[in-house]
Amino acid sequence: MSAPHSRPQCDQTAAWSALREQFERIGCKLDLRDAFRRDPGRFETFSQEAPHVFADLSKNLIDTQSEALLMELARECGVEYHRDAMFAGNVINNTEQRAVKHWLLRSPKGASADPDAVLVHATLDAMLAYAEQVRADAAITDVVNIGIGGSDLGPQMAVLALDSFVLPGKRFHFVSNVDGHELAAVLRTLRPQSTLFLVASKTFTTIETMTNARSARAWFEAQGGRDVARHFAALTTNVAAAREFGITTTFGFWDWVGGRYSMWSSIGLSIAIATGASAFRELLAGAHEMDRHFASAPLERNLPARLGLLDVWNRNFHGFASRSIAPYHSALRRLPAYLQQLEMESNGKRVDADGLALTQASAPVLWGEPGTNGQHAYFQLLHQGTDRVPVEFIAVKTPSHSLPKHHELLLANALAQAQALMQGKPDEGGHKDFPGNRPSTFLLLDRLTPASLGALVALHEHRVFVSGSVWGINSFDQWGVELGKVLAKDIAGRLASGDVAGLDTSTAGLLRRLADPSA
Ligand code: F6P
Repeated sequence: MSAPHSRPQCDQTAAWSALREQFERIGCKLDLRDAFRRDPGRFETFSQEAPHVFADLSKNLIDTQSEALLMELARECGVEYHRDAMFAGNVINNTEQRAVKHWLLRSPKGASADPDAVLVHATLDAMLAYAEQVRADAAITDVVNIGIGGSDLGPQMAVLALDSFVLPGKRFHFVSNVDGHELAAVLRTLRPQSTLFLVASKTFTTIETMTNARSARAWFEAQGGRDVARHFAALTTNVAAAREFGITTTFGFWDWVGGRYSMWSSIGLSIAIATGASAFRELLAGAHEMDRHFASAPLERNLPARLGLLDVWNRNFHGFASRSIAPYHSALRRLPAYLQQLEMESNGKRVDADGLALTQASAPVLWGEPGTNGQHAYFQLLHQGTDRVPVEFIAVKTPSHSLPKHHELLLANALAQAQALMQGKPDEGGHKDFPGNRPSTFLLLDRLTPASLGALVALHEHRVFVSGSVWGINSFDQWGVELGKVLAKDIAGRLASGDVAGLDTSTAGLLRRLADPSA
C-alpha cells in the first residue's frame, strides 16, 4: 500500500469536481467576444490593482463562477494554510528539511520577529556598504558576476531591467555557461587591475561556476593581477569553501533561500553595485509590499492567488501546456528566462510533496521574447497555430527614454496583439482566417523602477507558490537537475580516456567521435 498524501489531492476535492462540471458546461465553450458583449463590467470584474502592478485578467477563458470555484479549490487545498506556514518560517521544503524565507530578505528592519532577521540586516548592511565602496572606486570599471541558474538569472535580469538606474562608467558582465567561449569573450575585454569578479554560488560546488571561477583567477594571475582580496568576492552560503578557494571578501546567505529565490540576498550584489544601496533597498521594499499583499489580501482580491489559480485553470481544465511571456519593454528581455527557472524548476514535478505520482498535469512550459520582436517571429503560431497558448503581456506606462513616438507605438502593439488574439478575424476564410478567442493576461507597471521590478518578481514567486500548493508540490526543491550532473561527471572522465564500456550505442558512438582526434 502506498503512503497517504499529507495534503488533499486537488483532483479529489469537491471544488475540482465542480470545476470539471463548470468547464464542460461553460468553460470549454466560453467565447471572449460574447463574454464582453454580455457583461459590460467584465473588465472591472477581472482586473485589479496590486502593489506597483495593475493586472487585467479579463481576456482569459474564465467566467466568474469558475473563478469562485477556483477560490474554493484553493481553500480546500490549504493554499492559505501553506502561505501562512511559509511566512511563519516553518519547514515547508520537506525534501530538504528547510524553511522557505526569501521573503525575510526583504522584510524591513524591525518588522519581523523571525530569529534570522537580525542576521539578514547585518549582512545586507555590510553588502550594501561594500557595494557603495565599489561604486565609489573609479579604478574598478568592470564587474563580472560568475554564477549560473538563480545565481545568474536574477542578477542579470535585474541589472538589465534597471538599466536606466545603472551607474555610468562601470560595465557589468554575466558569465554562467561552462562553455569557455562565454568566459573567453568577456576576458578579452578586461584588464585585471580594473576588474572585480563576483563568484556567486549558493553551494560553491556548482561545476560550471567553479570552473569559470578557477579560469578567471588563473587569467587574473597570468595577467599579473595580485590582489585577489580586492578583485574577487564570493556570494555564498558556503563561506568556508570560498575561503578555501582563496577568496576572503565574502557575503553569506542561508540554506532557507532557494537558488531561484536568491536575488534578494547577497547574490544580488551586482544589482546593488549597478544601481546603488538605496535602489537595492527600494527593490526589496517593492517585493515586500507584494509579500504583504499576498499574506493579507482575501483570495478573491489577491493577485498572486488569482494568477496562480488561473494558471491551474489553464493547465488542468483547458489543457494549455505552455505560456508565452511577452514583455513589451526591452529592458525586461531576460525576464522570460528568469521566469522559466522560477516556474519550471519550482513546479516542473511529477510527484507531490509526499513523493506520490501526481494525477494531473503540473507546470506548463514558459517561453518568450520581448515585444515587438516576437510579433515578427512566432506570433504567427499564437494567432493561427493549432495550439492555443495563453500570452502574458507585460507593459510599462511611462518609458525611461525620451523618444515618445517609440513608446506610443510599442504600447499600441501590445494592446493590438492582445486585442487581435481575442477578436480574431473570422470573416475571411482559409489562410487569412484568424480564429480569435485566444487568451491573454495583461500586466501593467507605471514605470520600471527598482520598487516595481521587486513587486513584479515577488508577484511571480507567489503565483508559482499558489499553483504549486494546489498541485500539492514542494515548489522549493529541484531533484530533477541532479542526474545530468552525475552523468556529466562520468562522461567527462570518459572523454579523456575514450572508455565507452557499458554505454548505450548512441552515447558511445558520439563519444568516440568526440574523443578521437582523427574521427
Ligand atoms: O542545478 C540547479 C541549481 O541548483 C539551481 O537551483 C541553482 O540556482 C543553480 O543550480 C546554481 O546553484 P549554485 O548557486 O549553488 O551554484
